[in-house]
Amino acid sequence: MRQLFLLVILIIVICHGQLSIANARTRKGPPVIIIPGTGASIIEAEVKRASDDGSGCPRHKDWFRAWLNVKEMFPTRLPCLINDLRLTFDPETNISSAPAGTRTRVVGFGTASSVEYMDHSWLAYFLFNIGTNAAALIKRLLHLGYERDVSIRGAPYDFRFSMGSDVNYFQRLKLLVEETYHLNGDSPVSLISHSMGGLYSVWFLNQQTKEWKDKFIDSCITVSAPWGGSAASLLSVTSGYNLHINFVDPLVVRKAQVTYESTYLMLPSPLIWSKPLVYTDDRNYTMTANDVSDMLETLRGSSQLYRHVMEINSLTRPSVMPPHPGVPTFCLHGAGISTENELHFEGRNFADEQPKVVFTDGDGTVSRESLSACNQWQGDTVHVQKEGVTHGAMWLTERGVDEILNALFRK
Ligand SMILES: *[C@@H]1O[C@H](CO)[C@@H](O)[C@H](O)[C@H]1NC(C)=O
Ligand SMILES: *[C@@H]1O[C@H](CO)[C@@H](O)[C@H](O)[C@H]1NC(C)=O
Repeated sequence: MRQLFLLVILIIVICHGQLSIANARTRKGPPVIIIPGTGASIIEAEVKRASDDGSGCPRHKDWFRAWLNVKEMFPTRLPCLINDLRLTFDPETNISSAPAGTRTRVVGFGTASSVEYMDHSWLAYFLFNIGTNAAALIKRLLHLGYERDVSIRGAPYDFRFSMGSDVNYFQRLKLLVEETYHLNGDSPVSLISHSMGGLYSVWFLNQQTKEWKDKFIDSCITVSAPWGGSAASLLSVTSGYNLHINFVDPLVVRKAQVTYESTYLMLPSPLIWSKPLVYTDDRNYTMTANDVSDMLETLRGSSQLYRHVMEINSLTRPSVMPPHPGVPTFCLHGAGISTENELHFEGRNFADEQPKVVFTDGDGTVSRESLSACNQWQGDTVHVQKEGVTHGAMWLTERGVDEILNALFRK
């Protein structure tokens, strides 16, 4: 009887030990900081204009969610939203800022919810689910024992700017990495980024010392990063890009898009495309700095913002890829889906009419050449291409999240 009792105790101890080891193991993954893509941070705005700016939009608005807010995107309201979200560029200083009387702020830095949904309304859900961000990834991490705001952090940024002009963001990100490391018992952190967030995370890591990265960083996981740019940006600077949402007028959103540093940051790289990508009756334009400058001069009389963005983001370097970030790196993306590439404006009003588009292979938003340029890196890089998975699905669906978790747990 006593032996049986001891045996039962022994079994309980062994099972309990195994259970707690299993629990500890599932929680043992590195803490994560999620860096979203372009358009995937929440921006609030406040308007207090002293005088009428001629836009016909309200002069006073209390702080409200300007992006993303599907209600504000309906045709009757869109022009005023664009008026609040555009930037103005000062050619004397090369500084872009919100128009006079408008203040904007990015919401929720450091929290998981800041990168979970941009617009969590039913309306956004029914409209192609455009308000969803890293919700599926966060849900899976929570099941694995991760905790919001402790081992899952978000690092949203103002996606209208570019790395080179947002020094403050990178300082805050460095502190967030250190804080997250300490909050999790001195565990190195994994940076998981989507789309343009990949450019941001690599830029950030390239500014840190090897000692710092060895101590604080576990891995850098980029998902759908447009290393060599995207035709979506080329549409933005020519005839406007409506993100394939039919009721959004591309010519209206273009008014804001052409003022964003990030639009120029993500123009297709001439190191990937040597032949012209824009065709017009008068001239065909390649993506060299000279051709793009000429095109912008023709379209809106100045190319200074473009040249400034090229300069501050080191886009004039002789390689498509920035230096390898110097930590274990994963480059994950989809492919095998028809993706906008060449824009043909022949016989059309350049660029106030929509072009005939010639498609190429990619993830539906970014071409395969641009996504897979990370294979040029010599350092520690795992490159995964998933055929048939789109730019968004790589981030939003279980198929994509499986790949992200495989990278996170080095499976
Ligand atoms: C643009 O390129 C096309 C195809 O190569 C060519 O037929 C056309 O003449 C070019 N247009 C101009 C204006 O150079
Ligand atoms: C603004 O940017 C242009 C283009 O890069 C550069 O030539 C010019 O010197 C810059 N001006 C200032 C004030 O930084």
